[in-house]
Amino acid sequence: MQLIKLRIENDAMDIAYYPTANEPATTRYAIAYNPDQSINDNLENIKVRLAGLKFDAAILENGLDYSFSDTIVGVNYDRIDVGLALTNLLNIPVVSRAAVDRDGLIAAVKAKKTYLKWHLDYYGKYEGVRNNGQEAMLTVGNGYFGLRGAYVESRADKNNYPGTYVAGIFDQETTKIKDHDVVNEDLVNLPNAQYMTFSVDNQEPFTINDRDIQDVYRSLDLKTGILTTTMLVQLQSGHRLQIQSQKLANMQAWHRFSIRYQVTPLNFSGSLQIISEIDGSVVNSNVSRYNVFDQHHLQLLGLESCANTMFLAGQTKTSKINYTFGAKLTSPDCNTSDLIELKHQPQGIQQVLSLAVQANQTYTFDKDVVIATSNVANDASLTQMTTALAQTSFDDTVKTSRDYWDQTWQDADIKIRGDLTSQRLTRVNIYHSFVSTAALESGQLDASAGARGLHGEAYRGHVFWDEMFMLPFFTLHRPELAKQLLLYRYRRLPAARENAKAAGFAGAMYPWQSAQKGDEQSQFTHLNPITQAWDPDNSRLQRHVSLDIAYDVWTYYHTTLDRDFLAKYGMEMLLSVAEFWISKATYDDTTGRYSIAGVMGPDEFHENYPNHQTPGLKNNAYTNIMVAWLFDTIAQLRDQLDNATYQKAAAAANFNTDLANKMADISHKLTLEINNSGIIAQFEGYFNLPTLDFQAYRQKFGNISRMDRILKAEGKTPDAYQVAKQADALMAFYNFDVPTVQKLIKQLGYTLPKEYLTHNIQYYLERTTHGSTLSRIVYAVLNQLDENYDQAWSLFSEALFSDYYDIQGGTTAEGIHLGVMCATLLLETRNFGGVSVLSQQLQVNPQLPEHWQSLKFKHTFRGTHYTFVINHEKITVTADQKQPITIAGKNYQLQAKKPLTVAYDHN
Ligand code: BGC
Repeated sequence: MQLIKLRIENDAMDIAYYPTANEPATTRYAIAYNPDQSINDNLENIKVRLAGLKFDAAILENGLDYSFSDTIVGVNYDRIDVGLALTNLLNIPVVSRAAVDRDGLIAAVKAKKTYLKWHLDYYGKYEGVRNNGQEAMLTVGNGYFGLRGAYVESRADKNNYPGTYVAGIFDQETTKIKDHDVVNEDLVNLPNAQYMTFSVDNQEPFTINDRDIQDVYRSLDLKTGILTTTMLVQLQSGHRLQIQSQKLANMQAWHRFSIRYQVTPLNFSGSLQIISEIDGSVVNSNVSRYNVFDQHHLQLLGLESCANTMFLAGQTKTSKINYTFGAKLTSPDCNTSDLIELKHQPQGIQQVLSLAVQANQTYTFDKDVVIATSNVANDASLTQMTTALAQTSFDDTVKTSRDYWDQTWQDADIKIRGDLTSQRLTRVNIYHSFVSTAALESGQLDASAGARGLHGEAYRGHVFWDEMFMLPFFTLHRPELAKQLLLYRYRRLPAARENAKAAGFAGAMYPWQSAQKGDEQSQFTHLNPITQAWDPDNSRLQRHVSLDIAYDVWTYYHTTLDRDFLAKYGMEMLLSVAEFWISKATYDDTTGRYSIAGVMGPDEFHENYPNHQTPGLKNNAYTNIMVAWLFDTIAQLRDQLDNATYQKAAAAANFNTDLANKMADISHKLTLEINNSGIIAQFEGYFNLPTLDFQAYRQKFGNISRMDRILKAEGKTPDAYQVAKQADALMAFYNFDVPTVQKLIKQLGYTLPKEYLTHNIQYYLERTTHGSTLSRIVYAVLNQLDENYDQAWSLFSEALFSDYYDIQGGTTAEGIHLGVMCATLLLETRNFGGVSVLSQQLQVNPQLPEHWQSLKFKHTFRGTHYTFVINHEKITVTADQKQPITIAGKNYQLQAKKPLTVAYDHN
């Protein structure tokens, strides 16, 4: 093992490099700590000094003695978990001298690696958006609710935001702003039932503040779903305590969550109070730019209590959804029912428990919470709160959570060897994918997955095309869950028909932003803070969302062959969406082609043509290619159903033979603009727009990802330039394999020169600022297709750590980016693992990143369960049924349960 050993003192860092563990160091550095630089910049010096050397682990010689981490050191009169920091920086485990002496080097390194692969940890107290981002990343939940990973002792303020959301609970409020009525539909921040704190000698309850908190460590155990926060507190009164809270969601009885709160007085015996509350006074205030709007959504209906339980009932203001929160406080150390004093508050209810405590003894208090809401089918627990509470215990919640996660890690884990950071962040992404959706699988909730999960209030919890980036992952691992996401859309088909009708079209037009009812929730205008004018917001013209939903239907059907779904729901959805596009396409006699106008592609920088009044653009390439694909696909899927079943779906969609004939015609004659070099114009007229001096803007502003804002601040518009927020023209190459897209383009009567894909990728990459993290996902795939593996890797890894590092400088604070999280998982299996489910039979063509030693994962494709183990030399596939498969271009027959190993040449 190649090692580095570190000793980090207050003002100096000593590093020694050992090419083998048992021989003397070959290189030593003493680096003076530069107090004018940040800790991270100082650590970067270590990286630079070690450049070019290979090492597998680091030993920290002088870690401080803490129960929660053995790699914390004092530096520059502060403390840092240098283990966490160096693992991030160097992608190696850092073990303590104590662990090595105790367990031996090999065992200590192995244990640390395992720990790091299963935990998301933060040491220290952070402020503002940085802490809010960590809260989002530490969210616990089960798809019914999401509880931000805030300190349980916190209330909403500039540093903390303990939000609670239940899937599908939205509420609309209208705010008058400069004689405009602005209507917003928010995912409601429900009462805060995670609140718990303590006080000593009946003094003021402890709050989250720098003065009292000496140390704090937060650790999310991805294996079990338990978030543990350990704090060392010294109150102004001199009392010192260790406070540990553990919080987790019940993954089976998904109305429940539990908190274990443990208090250890360290230097006193005396009187301790435990305060537990359900706070109904909360508002939606996670996103500060929304605070000009009315963000009050809760109405209190009643407070009740009985022995050690308390209840808060309320209703959302306009959507009239009832909610009841019940909480029970128990302790193995005392009879809580006898000791609790109850305090009714104007908008909440509080239990205060007083007991005498002894120094250095740990006292345990369990708060079990039940949430019931009237938006859930068969919600018996709304009337059975007391029974539900009686059944709940912290230990039971732990057990059910463990069981759920055990099963989920069995089915959906992606194991990466050789890259600690990718492994950890991959699991973080898998974890949040299910935190955002698990309960939807039950079919009892009328909700889908919001773009920002159940983790924050950005985009008001709305559902976007981002589903398209999530659905493949869910379909391959939890098809029933994927189906429920689609049924959310199916139930909103009538609303989509209304939308189309209101806009003057036939068929179904899904809204760009969908929430409770499926009507359009995007804003139409925005007040420009600089000019005070109401500027139009045309983002709803991203009509491609209906095509993306059609693609989701196809993905699900193609991957599962769930004919029942296709017959009952899918075909009707596809036909209804098709009818919309037929009514939107117009025929031009002079060109003999159809055009689609008044739309936007995914690139949100282009809402309309400069110097034109009509909103939207004409012949967006992605839209038109997807329309052609949809029309072809419907014709193919029709054959999967017997005629009577098809006719039933067609009747439900009001789809007749005339429309079917039109579809065939349009799918061959839609317009694309392609120039002589084979560049596919993002939309008609794109090549007439001026290019932008990216270099100059980069020099001036550094980060230009939100070029739209920069240009608008200069009084310009991104509409006028060849600049894109995200992938657009080439999106179809993300959705399908290259031959499929080529065939569609050819079918439309266009020919593409050789190397066209490389040229298009280069062309658009140069013009794209990645203002949406989804962009990196798409370009990672495109570069991988184009065999530009370095670029693919760098875009993929930026996407993989985008929420962890909050690379957009504050957006994670307002919720995770669920589409990106799920899409990174697909990229790992589809692009790096090379397992494509896009054809009728599985194709395997791996292209592992060089430093990944191996990749292991499972897929369920058309009812067969597959396990793949892939390294740089060979691929081993096991299936539970006999199936044909193509590996590295050759066809094989898999026998049930018999692993097939195929050597391949990875170059
Ligand atoms: C992106 C959209 C995305 C939305 C929600 C926007 O920034 O441009 O493509 O759907 O965020 O995630």
